[in-house]
Amino acid sequence: MPNDNAVGQYSALDDILRCPLCQHALQVDAQQRQWCCQQGHSFDRARQGYIHLLPVQQKRSKQPGDSRDMVMARRQFLALGHYRPLRDEIARLLAAHQATTVNRGAYRLLDAGCGEGYYLSGIVAASDGHQRGYGVDISKLAVQAAAATDKNPDIRWLVASNANLPIHDESIDGLLSLFGFPVYREFARVLKSAGIYIQVDTGEQHLQQLRQIIYPQIINKAAPEDSAPAGFQLLQQQRLYYSVKLTSNSAIQHLLSMTPHRHRASQTGLQRLSLLTELALSVDFQIRVYQRQS
Ligand SMILES: C[S@@+](CC[C@H](N)C(=O)[O-])C[C@H]1O[C@@H](n2cnc3c(N)ncnc32)[C@H](O)[C@@H]1O
Ligand SMILES: [Zn+2]
Repeated sequence: MPNDNAVGQYSALDDILRCPLCQHALQVDAQQRQWCCQQGHSFDRARQGYIHLLPVQQKRSKQPGDSRDMVMARRQFLALGHYRPLRDEIARLLAAHQATTVNRGAYRLLDAGCGEGYYLSGIVAASDGHQRGYGVDISKLAVQAAAATDKNPDIRWLVASNANLPIHDESIDGLLSLFGFPVYREFARVLKSAGIYIQVDTGEQHLQQLRQIIYPQIINKAAPEDSAPAGFQLLQQQRLYYSVKLTSNSAIQHLLSMTPHRHRASQTGLQRLSLLTELALSVDFQIRVYQRQS
C-alpha cells in the first residue's frame, strides 16, 4: 500500500499537530523521535510509538481516563467482534462523506476518546491508504495499548485531552466520539467547514438483559436530546439494533468491566452474573451525524 507519510520536518501526518502548551506548530525531527515547537517545548515519542501531548498542568489526576483493567477488558471484549457491525457502519458513513469531499491529500480522521483503538485501527486499515487517523485519549494506558499493537504509519496515537486537542484549527474531515466525552467547542474548532462529526451513544435497550441481572430495578435513561450542539447541524441519525450471544463467563465479565456497570451493580447482582456462562443481549446504538456549521 503506498504511503506518503514522508519522514521530514512536516510529515504527511504531523503537519496538523500543535503544541498543547503554546499552540504553535509542532515540527518533528528526521527520525520522528521528538516533536518541538518554536517556543522550545518538546515531546518525545514513547517506546510504543505514541506521543504524550498532555502536559501535567492539564491533568486533573495522576492517571486520568480509563484504568488498565477497563482498557484490557475492552480490548478482549471488542476482539470477539460483537461490535464489528458498528465499526463497519461508521466506516461506511465516513466513506460516503469522503466521496463527497474535494480533498487535497488524504482524508483526516480524528477519534476523540479512542480507547484502545479498536474503531480507528479498523476504519483506517479498511480505507486502503485513503485516510490518515489521529487517535486521542486522555488515558495513557489506553493509548499505549493502541500504539503497541497498531503500527500503521497512517495513524498517530496521542495522549491528549478532548478539552485541549493538540490539532490545528479546521484540519479534520471526520471526527468520532464513540461513547466518549465530547467537547463540542474543540470539535468545532478542529473540523474543516464541510467536516462531519459522528457521535455514538448507547440506546435505551442497550445490554438490557445484563442490566436486568445486576440491578434490582432497571432505569432506562431518557432519550438523548434532539437539538444539535452549538456549532453543529444534525444531518442524520439512525439506530443500530441487533442481538448478540456471549458464550463464556469471561466474555460476560469483560463486557461488564468495560462499562460503568461494574462499579454501580449490587453485590447480589454481580454474584448472579458470576454464575452465568452464556447470555443473549440486545445491542442498541444511537448514531448521529452532524456537520460543522460554517
Ligand atoms: C467508554 S470509553 C470509549 C473508548 C472507545 N471510544 C471505544 O468505544 O472503545 C471512553 C474513553 O474516553 C476517554 N476519555 C475520558 N475523558 C477524556 C478526555 N477529556 N479526553 C480524551 N479522552 C477522554 C477514556 O480514557 C476512555 O478511553
Ligand atoms: Zn509550545
